[in-house]
Amino acid sequence: MLDAEMHPTGGLQIAWENPAVELPRLGDPESYTLDVGQDGAVMKASSWRGVLHGLETFSQLLKYDGESWGVSAVSIQDEPRFPWRGLMIDVVRHWQPMDVIKRNLDGMALVKLNVLHLHLTDDQGFRIESKTHPRLHELGSDGHYFSHEEIRELIAYAADRGIRVVPEFDIPGHATSWLVAYPELGSAPGPYAVERRWGIFDPVLDPTNERVYAVLTDFLGEMAKLFPDPCLHIGGDENNGVHWTANAQIQTFIQVHGLKDNAGLHAYFNGRVHAILLRHGKRLVGWDEILHPDLPAGSLVHSWRGVQGVADAVTRGFSTILSNGFYIDLSHPASKHYQNDPVPADTMLSAIEQKRVLGGEATMWSEWVSPETIDSRIWPRTAAIAERLWSPRDVKDTADLYRRVALVVERLEEMGLQLERHRAVLVRRFAGEAAGARDVAALRTFIDVIEPVKEYQRGQYHAGHTQFTPLTGLADCARPESDAAREFADHVLRFLAGPPGLSFSSRETLQQQLMIWQNAGLVAANFLLARSAGFDAGAAVARGLETISGIGLSALDALTRGSARDVVWRDEQLARIDLAAQPHDAVQLPPVDAIRQLVHAAARETSLRNDRARE
Ligand code: ACM
Repeated sequence: MLDAEMHPTGGLQIAWENPAVELPRLGDPESYTLDVGQDGAVMKASSWRGVLHGLETFSQLLKYDGESWGVSAVSIQDEPRFPWRGLMIDVVRHWQPMDVIKRNLDGMALVKLNVLHLHLTDDQGFRIESKTHPRLHELGSDGHYFSHEEIRELIAYAADRGIRVVPEFDIPGHATSWLVAYPELGSAPGPYAVERRWGIFDPVLDPTNERVYAVLTDFLGEMAKLFPDPCLHIGGDENNGVHWTANAQIQTFIQVHGLKDNAGLHAYFNGRVHAILLRHGKRLVGWDEILHPDLPAGSLVHSWRGVQGVADAVTRGFSTILSNGFYIDLSHPASKHYQNDPVPADTMLSAIEQKRVLGGEATMWSEWVSPETIDSRIWPRTAAIAERLWSPRDVKDTADLYRRVALVVERLEEMGLQLERHRAVLVRRFAGEAAGARDVAALRTFIDVIEPVKEYQRGQYHAGHTQFTPLTGLADCARPESDAAREFADHVLRFLAGPPGLSFSSRETLQQQLMIWQNAGLVAANFLLARSAGFDAGAAVARGLETISGIGLSALDALTRGSARDVVWRDEQLARIDLAAQPHDAVQLPPVDAIRQLVHAAARETSLRNDRARE
């Protein structure tokens, strides 16, 4: 319902302070105010980027009252907490073409993110055209790379949305794809082939070879011109030093130059790269392994290994951005990312050190995402990270976050992102041609309540998977955070917290949900078992859903009817839940925790009741 102050006929006046410039820059003012009153709406912004943010807010306020569209009276003063609010997309492990990047830029603008970090080279591919050394992309990319023309198009598309584009060329490790074309730049003899598996690999550029710097001078010079942003990311992560240690000539170089160890050699390499970048007016950005006493001043440290990385960087005078805690590839819930603050309330950093924390980035590593699933991996959880980086620290109500995230999902889908649509396609394909409507419906219910295993566990379940393995299984159909499971857990909490008798609606909701899951688990398990042996693992998870739903119903029954549940029953049920909770095929059943709570409560209530009866 819209209130009486709405003025659908009033206009929107926009004023901004700084003249328009073509490209967004780090530190540009981004604030705006928006006042909607009797005579229409007025937006005042500190810059054209503030105008873009204000327009996003304005469009989110537009409501239809059955006759026309308008905005209710409101007064907003808005500005970001951090100037660097990014999303990194790894286009290497699984290639992500132009349309994927563009639609995700649209999503970024919606939630006021302002940096797209493109991870362009790695062991599994060289995904940028090089005109100075074309063999790099010709031999290292399987034909999947961005041309210069495409990059210019992306940069313009991003700039129109107030978003900077920061490229990453990961060196000296994560560099197998460079060495396919130029094995002589490596620290071991080769030959090298594009890596098809996931992990940390030994191939690494040879920092003692002057030819490496000659190629880097050409290539980074070329990229410095192509990418106008002053920041250029050189990776630097996970260099395991194996090929350096094994190479006697490299170890001699370390001694002769007084570099102490492999870390000293890495720092020497970074110093040389820094000098190349400096000539092009570029600022060196690297993952936190670059932090070393010899790291040139002015470098920007991208903290990923731990929150300590932030403190380590800023206390040594470096600016930093945080990605630890924002790894959206690890399938953690939005609430976890939302609570991850680059400068938490209990920070020990001084005011000056805090200023060096420029913000953070969500990181979409693409080992387990395809163009088909990537939107549902980036969103909606990245909206929670965007808010963490924009809003004041004390805006942290998780329940309200989820309410607003649900609205963001709708907006994203409207804008052309493919969260819901792709899932529907994936589930139908997973079901196969022989599936009846009842089977597909059961599978959809089942898939709505499962999640992929967390952290880096998927590799243990799908150890043989490579870049060529289709990402069309259960773990791909499932989304990183199940709304159904989260809502169920919320209802269980409410039900158990409420006084007996007053939580009727929660009980009804729980009972209905459990019956639906029990039935869907049964139908899905039978369907998958009948399909082929390849679906047995998935069937085991579906059977698990049926089992835990049955246990939940029985606990609920005990709690509402007061039928006796003793510790023997409790322990039996908990053991059955443990068994059902075991992941298979890299998916797990998130409702198990809430069901355990119901079981504990059913036994506790009963023992309390028995105690009272004895008194
Ligand atoms: C990283 O995740 N290796 C930066």
